[in-house]
Amino acid sequence: MPSDDPVDRSASPSVDETVDPPPAFVEQANVADESVYDEFAADWPDCWARAGDLLDWDREYDAVLGGEGPPFRWFDGGELNASYNCLDRHVESGRKNQVALTWEGRLGESRTYSYLELYREVNEFAAALRDLGVEEDDVVTLYLPMIPELPIAMLACARIGAPHSVVFAGFSADALATRMDDADSEYLVTCDGYYRRGAPVHQKSKADNAAIGLDHDVTTVVVDRLGDGTPLTDGEHDYDQLVGTHRGATVEPVSRAATDQLFLIYTSGTTGEPTGVRHTTGGYLAHVAWTARSVLDVKPADTYWCSADIGWITGHSYTVYAPLALGTTTMLYEGTPDYPEKDRVWELIERNAVDVFYTAPTAIRAFMKWGEKHPDRHDLSSLRLLGTVGEPINPRAWKWYHEHIGNGECPVVDTWWQTETGGMMVTTLPGVDRMKPGAAGRPLPGIGAEVVDGDGEPVDPGESGYLVLTDPWPGMPLSMVQDEDWFAARGSTRPSLDRFDWAYFTEDGATVDDDGYVTLLGRVDDVLNVSGHRFGTTEIESAIADVDGVAEAAVVAGPHDLKGEAVYAYVSLADGADRAEIRTLVDEAVEAAIGPIAVPDVVVFTPDLPKTRSGKVMRRLLESVARGEDLGDTSALRNPEVVGELESTLDDD
Ligand code: PRX
Repeated sequence: MPSDDPVDRSASPSVDETVDPPPAFVEQANVADESVYDEFAADWPDCWARAGDLLDWDREYDAVLGGEGPPFRWFDGGELNASYNCLDRHVESGRKNQVALTWEGRLGESRTYSYLELYREVNEFAAALRDLGVEEDDVVTLYLPMIPELPIAMLACARIGAPHSVVFAGFSADALATRMDDADSEYLVTCDGYYRRGAPVHQKSKADNAAIGLDHDVTTVVVDRLGDGTPLTDGEHDYDQLVGTHRGATVEPVSRAATDQLFLIYTSGTTGEPTGVRHTTGGYLAHVAWTARSVLDVKPADTYWCSADIGWITGHSYTVYAPLALGTTTMLYEGTPDYPEKDRVWELIERNAVDVFYTAPTAIRAFMKWGEKHPDRHDLSSLRLLGTVGEPINPRAWKWYHEHIGNGECPVVDTWWQTETGGMMVTTLPGVDRMKPGAAGRPLPGIGAEVVDGDGEPVDPGESGYLVLTDPWPGMPLSMVQDEDWFAARGSTRPSLDRFDWAYFTEDGATVDDDGYVTLLGRVDDVLNVSGHRFGTTEIESAIADVDGVAEAAVVAGPHDLKGEAVYAYVSLADGADRAEIRTLVDEAVEAAIGPIAVPDVVVFTPDLPKTRSGKVMRRLLESVARGEDLGDTSALRNPEVVGELESTLDDD
């Protein structure tokens, strides 16, 4: 691969060690037989009936995969309701008193809901939504922090066949308005505010500002989280009052076709605007339930904690839908891992006797930095399995997690997937596979994936290339199911996919070893992965470029010990602009357009951005500056003199 290939941006970690699955774990694992790989391969796509069989269908599907595709119709002809699968069937099968949801609030409060209690409140809120006018296929936007009302609202929407669009609570008013506008969403569920590190954040005022920017009316439901009683205006309703007036109501779950939309979630791509990814009801739910069962080894008797915020796909799939579909106890935590103390996570695991813990490498690196004295103070022996997701985990962090949290006795699954895949795709089966710290693993049974070069040919072991999914999978999004050219408009650097009848380029670089284990090398498009969350450089750049006094801006990823990638902004100023003032305005602009999470970690002011002779900004050079690398020959630049300036500015930072 040529040295300027974007995939070749970091050396492949050495994956020279393997860790066997602990025998005690294998003995009890949901999937412990290696033959599962061959069985799936021999019987594809019908093998996926094993996932479909985890669900209850109102109408049995006619075929596991209908259509030669695209469109691909997973569980073709089948009808089901996601809320029924997550609630009613557990209540009906005598498990109504099992805890469905355990909530740990930011101020130390906690709440639990049995399956029956959750069923009741979901029904009551579903009835309320109907009364407010929500009809099947209306998009309901949910702009809530990690409080029980969020999964309750999701399941209430699912019950009446109204797709939800959850917008991360930390996003700004502008970001909310963009998403509501794009989805034509006329219903919003939000709250008055919530606590962040003990201080209240006023969510409702952000929601109000978003509504001003919309050209349609919005019916809003407000959860009183702060307990101060929020004054409501026309078109606004108090959540508790609504549920109270529908006390005891039941709503028949609406039968949805397997390919009907369950929800919409926005993610960042290479364009300036976030992309709506629409997930299906049958394929998605089957995919997440099957992977939670086989990879996270989730069992009904478990207390399971996926720490991801529900505002992102991981929270949708593995905090809400998969664990509830499997009838386990899922834990929801509103707080941050270091408040009030840095042992908060371990205290919660001990107190709730958590069996399975699934988190992000960025959190693991923070835990590592804070030191093992925090977990050491707690009894973590309830843990059986650990998982990570969202970004590559370096072998040192993997080993620390394995040793200090899992006591060397819990398998660690490094799960690779994306918003677009809906559920896990490349990882290890903990009851079957050896683990390799730093490598995610092989494609799961029934998943086709290859690492290819620019011509679409498989790379040799150890060579870097592009990760491509070569077969459709049940959790594939509706957008991809329906649209043959879904990918045509995306990404500028992509391998040729002509060799395949159908393939999806993930926009990730990867290597593969002799055993077929895939090691991820990061995105090859203009998407940053900050603390495991995706942001398009264009989104951030356009917010910065809107600041008065800014002439031009380019945003790239720089190194960050904890967050994985940091946001580096290179900004050239109009004559006479004041740097200190602009720095504040840049932060405010990004916070207003997206949210605090995307605010640049480093802003470098430069008289000019380095450009090619044709006038294109040289992002790769900016990335090298951010990483402090040798820049090599820069004579091909139109303005090579700017480079020295950039380097010295960064030294001063
Ligand atoms: O670059 C990959 C990285 O996160 C991207 C997907 O981000 P998002 O859609 O926000 O979903 C995150 C949660 C599934 C991927 O393109 N990524 C995700 N998991 C891993 C990963 N990179 C390396 N290893 C992983 N386990």
